[in-house]
Amino acid sequence: MLIRPMKVEDLDKVLVIENESFISPWNKEQFLYELKENPFAILLVAEYQGIICGFIDFWITFDVAQLNQIAVHASLQKKGIGTVLLSDMINRVQSQEVNRITLEVRTYNEKALALYKKFGFRKELIKEHYYDNGDDAIFMIKEVGEC
Ligand SMILES: CC(C)(COP(=O)(O)OP(=O)(O)OC[C@H]1O[C@@H](n2cnc3c(N)ncnc32)[C@H](O)[C@@H]1OP(=O)(O)O)[C@@H](O)C(=O)NCCC(=O)NCCS
Repeated sequence: MLIRPMKVEDLDKVLVIENESFISPWNKEQFLYELKENPFAILLVAEYQGIICGFIDFWITFDVAQLNQIAVHASLQKKGIGTVLLSDMINRVQSQEVNRITLEVRTYNEKALALYKKFGFRKELIKEHYYDNGDDAIFMIKEVGEC
């Protein structure tokens, strides 16, 4: 499994995963903004034998990293790819003087919650009606500075 920076040429495959994974998926323009214009954004893909299996998008702003999206192709989940992507992010932010990683996740997203719990994220608070459709979010934090 190769973890490498996302390229514009990956976007069609990334968007397939995006559309099957999220209730309010990002469109191509949003990814292009992240890739080309957002100076804080880091986007990585997990590639195996030329196939894009998943991706992760996070921002590093000073000492905080925000995990925006992590997704693995539906047919390839539960094989450890999400773990590899999140481990890679954590390794990268640890080398950049980041103290904490934050994220929001829908309260009922059991698969994601299990992944985050495995990595030691703690539930900090509930953000009510955080998402466009009115769903609440759990705001989670992982301290990384002391690791
Ligand atoms: C969340 C997601 C990225 C996990 O990716 P994955 O490749 O399946 O994750 P892994 O195989 O590395 O599993 C990591 C842990 O997640 C948990 N997990 C994964 N799938 C699970 C499932 N179906 N049921 C329960 N727990 C699950 C387990 O704790 C697992 O650890 P373990 O295998 O050591 O027990 C994937 O389910 C996904 O793409 N979901 C849709 C998009 C999404 O909701 N993203 C998060 C919000 S931004």
